[in-house]
Amino acid sequence: MNYRHAYHVGNHGDVLKHVVLLHLLEALRAKPAPFHLLDSHAGIGLYDLAADATQRGGEYRLGIGAVLADPQAAAALPLYWDALKQLNPALEPGGAGLRHYPGSPWLMQQALREADRLALVELHPEDNETLRINIGGDARIGIHRRDAYEALRGLLPPTPRRGLALIDPAYEQRDEFERIGRALLAAHRRWPVGQIALWYPIKDAGSVDAWAKALARDGLPPSLRVELLIRAATAPDRLNGSGLLLLNPPWRLDQQLKAPLAYLLARLGREPGAATRLEWLVKPKD
Ligand SMILES: C[S@@+](CC[C@H](N)C(=O)[O-])C[C@H]1O[C@@H](n2cnc3c(N)ncnc32)[C@H](O)[C@@H]1O
Repeated sequence: MNYRHAYHVGNHGDVLKHVVLLHLLEALRAKPAPFHLLDSHAGIGLYDLAADATQRGGEYRLGIGAVLADPQAAAALPLYWDALKQLNPALEPGGAGLRHYPGSPWLMQQALREADRLALVELHPEDNETLRINIGGDARIGIHRRDAYEALRGLLPPTPRRGLALIDPAYEQRDEFERIGRALLAAHRRWPVGQIALWYPIKDAGSVDAWAKALARDGLPPSLRVELLIRAATAPDRLNGSGLLLLNPPWRLDQQLKAPLAYLLARLGREPGAATRLEWLVKPKD
């Protein structure tokens, strides 16, 4: 396990993932019934942008940095802005005062009400320890040091049944797309009513497309594909964009994401070939 998210935190992939995640969490909170959240690849939960690793990677500058440089960011992405502001009370329009970046566990923790539950899974020993320091001590949250693939089998379906699993692998292994595809289908079969959000990198667009279409043929429920390419996906050694595959997404999410996605494209997609995708991989039945 070489991947450490601190080097990449706040990049365009994180921005897309967390903007979409906040919409999913808001939809769950719109109903009083309790929900269960699972983050199968949690990371450390909370990041100091001044940390050595983050400064060395510096990817956040072209991600969250480029978004917040626009004084209109708060109006364009209100859920995201509110979360950042809660974590960085000194944050100002234009981006001054940004010091900490929220990982998915922190965003999920903020969404919990008294009866809601959250399971966080992180295998890396040091990152798991840091996660416990950042997010631990909350009776609503269980923190697990175990393999995500094994946890997806062991922890799903959750109680209560209503809820969301975020699957956000590091894609370190050559076969991780295939492996995660199989795990996704199995998780859905075990938890047919669950919402599942799978994040994936886009290096070469053609192979991602083939993978997604094969998954659709293998039995996905209604599934929405949300992607942001910051440049044409022709250089297979670069993170040209990323996407989320959303199984059983909430009603009207496709409509709600249109404006935020267009805004992210305007802020982050500065090179030729930049584009978005917001389409049903598997359409809901009328
Ligand atoms: C992309 S990062 C997660 C970022 C986090 N979800 C967020 O949005 O803030 C992926 C994480 O998965 C962890 N990881 C990698 N392989 C894993 C495995 N097999 N089981 C559990 N965690 C794993 C890595 O240590 C890393 O912290």
